Amino acid sequence: MKRVITYGTFDLIHYGHINLLKRAKELGDYLIVALSTDEFNWNEKRKKCYFTYEERMRLLEAIRYVDLVIPEENWEQKASDVRLYQVDTFVMGDDWQGKFDFLKEYCQVVYLPRTPEISTTQIKTDFGYLKSEDSRK
Ligand code: CTP
Repeated sequence: MKRVITYGTFDLIHYGHINLLKRAKELGDYLIVALSTDEFNWNEKRKKCYFTYEERMRLLEAIRYVDLVIPEENWEQKASDVRLYQVDTFVMGDDWQGKFDFLKEYCQVVYLPRTPEISTTQIKTDFGYLKSEDSRK
């Protein structure tokens, strides 16, 4: 059984997220999503989620590619998650290209191309949840 892990906020799930999760699952047999908690999003990324952690978790669990959702609570947990869950492959979108190469000591590290044009920030901006000057993508 080949295990894959990915990390993210996954707020207002959109087709860019689905494309990422589908391709991540295709790299193995079992996909774990480490989902950023509301506290981690706010304290570390200054991101205010529209959906709560619980709601985002339920949405992810309903996606056929996702086998397990665990909380992402800090930047340091990745190496211990890889060991704890016996992960073979760590996957992120290529907006994180090179950032997690230190994990190559423990597992394969893959950056997948992002789906163009769509992002949660864009959706929030388009619907007036964020002011356009807060838009980063
Ligand atoms: N992702 C992707 N293509 C997109 C948007 C996101 O492949 N168009 C990937 C990211 O690279 C990441 C995962 O989906 O690996 C979760 O990303 P997240 O930051 O939750 O989504 P964004 O839409 O980028 O959200 P935000 O605008 O809040 O950063």
